[in-house]
Amino acid sequence: MPLLEVKNLRLGYGDKVVLNDISFTLYRGEVKVVMGPSGCGKTSLLRCLNLLVKPTGGQIFLNGQEITAPNTHERAVRRQIGFVFQQFGLFRHLDALHNVMLAPVKLLKLSRKEAQERARHELSRVDMLEHAEKYPAQLSGGQQQRIAIARALAMDPKLILFDEPTSALDPELSREISIIINRLFLDDVSMLCVTHDAHFAKYVCDKIIFLDQGNILAEQQPEQLYAQQEDERIRRFFRMAREGGS
Ligand SMILES: Nc1ncnc2c1ncn2[C@@H]1O[C@H](COP(=O)(O)OP(=O)(O)OP(=O)(O)O)[C@@H](O)[C@H]1O
Ligand SMILES: [Mg+2]
Repeated sequence: MPLLEVKNLRLGYGDKVVLNDISFTLYRGEVKVVMGPSGCGKTSLLRCLNLLVKPTGGQIFLNGQEITAPNTHERAVRRQIGFVFQQFGLFRHLDALHNVMLAPVKLLKLSRKEAQERARHELSRVDMLEHAEKYPAQLSGGQQQRIAIARALAMDPKLILFDEPTSALDPELSREISIIINRLFLDDVSMLCVTHDAHFAKYVCDKIIFLDQGNILAEQQPEQLYAQQEDERIRRFFRMAREGGS
């Protein structure tokens, strides 16, 4: 059974169709990347998966349970899905350790001691234990993003969603993040990651889902997709990425 199964998902805002019949699966331990032009619906897709917006049609299953069903306990679902954003979203007034401890204490009701142990473990997974007492303002963008990843991991989620985790970072820091994501992949963490960075995608994922105007145009391994000759929209995207990125 797939960990995540998306079936004929649709999302519209008024007359505007944002996602049009999206279907894919993600198995446990798999990492898939979502790519596509600006405005094609990538963030909207993640927001549907995390139940932040209600789809107009279709179904989403997590571990075989339909989370788009009307009686779903949304907060219980969100607890099982970590979300890491472009802009890290750390609490400025808390040090790294307390940023990571917060949700386990508040949502999982762990004791402070248990939460601290867990937070230290997750910080060490992202090589940030030595910075546990620093505040976000004292950390680089890449370090802040690693804290944000540790914070997601501390909830022991079934799945982590990333929305452009490297787009606020320079190439060197984004490489750091790709190394961390790759390490999580080796630990069997299931991830769906939106990015426009073709180098990053190739390094971190099994397959790329290419979206265009709310439709999946292709789902392929990075090498196959980058060499795609058939679809003009996909060719144009990677041609522009190469020209813009060099
Ligand atoms: N709350 C909203 N109300 C109306 N339209 C919206 C809303 N949120 C997003 N949209 C529209 O939905 C479309 C898809 O937006 P989305 O943010 O999912 O794109 P994206 O692929 O993540 O783009 P980017 O690469 O720029 O982040 C866009 O046309 C956007 O204007
Ligand atoms: Mg977006």
